[in-house]
Amino acid sequence: MLFGVTESMRKIKLGRFVVKRFAAKAVKAAKRSGRKRSTTAKLEIVPRTMGFEFDDVPKHWFFESSFGTHVANGLNLLFPEGEKYFIRSVAHFAPQLKNEELRSRVKAFTAQEVRHGLEHERFFEVLRRQGFDLERFLSYYPFIAYDVLEKRVYPRKLNLAITAAAEHYTATFAETCLRDRHFPDHAPQQMSDLFMWHAVEEIEHKSVAYDVLQEVDPGYALRLAGLCVATVQLMVFWQLGSLMLMRQDKDTSFGRLAREWLMAVKTRRFPAGDYARAFLQFASPGFHPSQIHNEKYAREALAYLSARYAAARGEKSEETVSRRDGPASSRVSSARLRPARASV
Ligand SMILES: [Fe+2]
Ligand SMILES: [Fe+2]
Repeated sequence: MLFGVTESMRKIKLGRFVVKRFAAKAVKAAKRSGRKRSTTAKLEIVPRTMGFEFDDVPKHWFFESSFGTHVANGLNLLFPEGEKYFIRSVAHFAPQLKNEELRSRVKAFTAQEVRHGLEHERFFEVLRRQGFDLERFLSYYPFIAYDVLEKRVYPRKLNLAITAAAEHYTATFAETCLRDRHFPDHAPQQMSDLFMWHAVEEIEHKSVAYDVLQEVDPGYALRLAGLCVATVQLMVFWQLGSLMLMRQDKDTSFGRLAREWLMAVKTRRFPAGDYARAFLQFASPGFHPSQIHNEKYAREALAYLSARYAAARGEKSEETVSRRDGPASSRVSSARLRPARASV
């Protein structure tokens, strides 16, 4: 009798042990799969209103380099009108989209791009206060790119294909920006936040224009034509804007610009290889933006920004993060957080 009771207890203990081991393994597996999903799963497209204050941005704010700053500012000059062009190109085809989910993604994409344009345009005032005359560039660039080429030369579908390709470039720029972390480490807080926020949202909506193009006209020739035109236009206007700023900068010299350019090449601060790869990716016949797994950079950056902004408001970071990005983003490294300014 006693032997029977002991035997039963032994079996119960063994059973509990097996159940515990099984449960532990299941939890581990769930955590592993959750981690995997969190880095590659599609991100929600969330428009965020920021309202940056740019009052105290130094003239050479990026790496304290005049060359690096004017390259970044040259790109900044293209954003407001460029974002409007992206919106127009996609919005024209929105009413004919049959996929309801894609239509709602187009709405979110539009809301994000509107905000990007407005925030980057407010930075123009800083450049004007620093003595740069932007008016000539800001009149001839939109006139050539949009009044002439977009509206009088390119067919609507080509504009859409150009936008899809340009969006792949902006997503590549976003990945580079978040992966290399040059902005949080080598730029004033508000400029770092501006570019990081924009980069996060570019990764969130990276497939929208491409998916619209696929639904409107999935032809390879059109996609390739869009890629070629987008590449040439981006390079030409970006370089013109940057050169105009370099030429007007009285606090730098040709020698300094050349030295800083050499340093940027040597230290790979300007990763031209990423853009060449982006061209080849988009030119590949079976390409889709979702094949580029850069979501983890967006999640990490969002966690960093959310935690810092929450700290500035005296909130717990997890609350802000979970509202926008889910628990995966609460893995924010406190070493990355900087003291918050009153403006954030
Ligand atoms: Fe944008
Ligand atoms: Fe975009």
